[in-house]
Amino acid sequence: METKTVEFSNPVLHGKLKVPGDKSISHRAVMLGSIASGQTNISGFLPGEDCLCTIDIFWKLGVTIDREGDQVTINSPGIEGWKSPDGPLYAGNSGTTARLMLGILAGSNVKSVMTGDSYLSKRPMRRVIGPLEKMGACITGEGDADRLPLTIVGRQLKCIDYEMPIASAQVKSGILFGALQAEGETRIVEKSGSRDHTERMLRQFGAQIETNDREIRITGKQVLTSCDVIVPGDISSAAFFMAAAAMLPESEVSFVNVGLNPSRTGMIDVMNQMGATVEIVDQKGENGEPYGTVNVKSASLHGIEIGGDMIPRLIDELPIIALMATQAAGKTVIKDAEELRVKETDRIAAVTSELKKLGASVEETEDGMIITGPTKLSGATLQSYGDHRIGMMSAIAALVAEGPIQIEDPSCIAVSYPNFFDDLYRLTGRS
Ligand code: S3P
Repeated sequence: METKTVEFSNPVLHGKLKVPGDKSISHRAVMLGSIASGQTNISGFLPGEDCLCTIDIFWKLGVTIDREGDQVTINSPGIEGWKSPDGPLYAGNSGTTARLMLGILAGSNVKSVMTGDSYLSKRPMRRVIGPLEKMGACITGEGDADRLPLTIVGRQLKCIDYEMPIASAQVKSGILFGALQAEGETRIVEKSGSRDHTERMLRQFGAQIETNDREIRITGKQVLTSCDVIVPGDISSAAFFMAAAAMLPESEVSFVNVGLNPSRTGMIDVMNQMGATVEIVDQKGENGEPYGTVNVKSASLHGIEIGGDMIPRLIDELPIIALMATQAAGKTVIKDAEELRVKETDRIAAVTSELKKLGASVEETEDGMIITGPTKLSGATLQSYGDHRIGMMSAIAALVAEGPIQIEDPSCIAVSYPNFFDDLYRLTGRS
């Protein structure tokens, strides 16, 4: 297995960082651009492995997609013109690809088989198949069809009235994509507000969709109009360096073009509550996806409690928040985050075990973690569990640990942040 050693001596983080495009928005831009007929141009696309899987799937369905770096041009015959693929549609490591595509494919007129890598094949799919079946979808697999591989026979769907039992943007979006092709008006009530990129982008593509607090209504059989999409930088990628800048004395980093959608900015709120110096300047783009510059300076941090409606707003940032909490004075309690157990890996178990190897004081709970700080961390060999966010947390830990950190299987970081190590070394003045 590949191992990477990361070691720093008294590092300070300085400079400007333009993080790669938002993963959630990049997936959705390719999906909606492929459902619409005509040409869609995407700029700022994330060329990470997850999003490249989404592009590859649409090629197999007969959509022409050209990519040069972060510029993508889609020419689609529209969902009605797709063909059944010759082979399986491979979602790689990407839960977003698999769950959103299930909703799209269920209401199309193609027959397909969805597969994924060994990690994705262990993740639950019933959460989206359940409501899709209520809409009339035909999705089959082994047993109760909770895991990939799954066979999807596209057919006419009908609308649904659905109260979501979990806060999940992937499930919500899978249903919304099914509803877009269905007969009648679908109503979804969210348990807790999850990221709303699908709702925003549907509007950008000309769809009528009504949102009122936690209720969403969409009428089916709508035809989308292709358009140009600008993808802002991914706040979930920036989060690793935001935490690093806050933890390392004398650091100051300016994050340019970062997505600031309120359903994603829990990290900034938590950093402020922990005593970090975070400043948002020149916020733009209110109507599509807001974005702007975020300045972070080092500060002395203290522990807080994180739970409830805050969780979906920072669900992907919890591994790096847990690391930051090891350097904060007092107790940080993370609760109501049981969804972490079904991410790319069980992130509660993985974060607890890897931070303990560094000497941190972390207690695993059923729905989160309790971290007591500040603790001096030491070097260790850490596993990524094939999970990009655990891999990046481990690399950032090397900035605060005394001694080297060996990361096992760091290649998974390319799922969301292909140039992560280049940015890490540039901001620490090593390149
Ligand atoms: C995502 C939603 C979240 C998040 C994932 C991306 C999306 O998952 O963890 O990285 O793009 O919709 P859940 O919806 O399962 O919480």
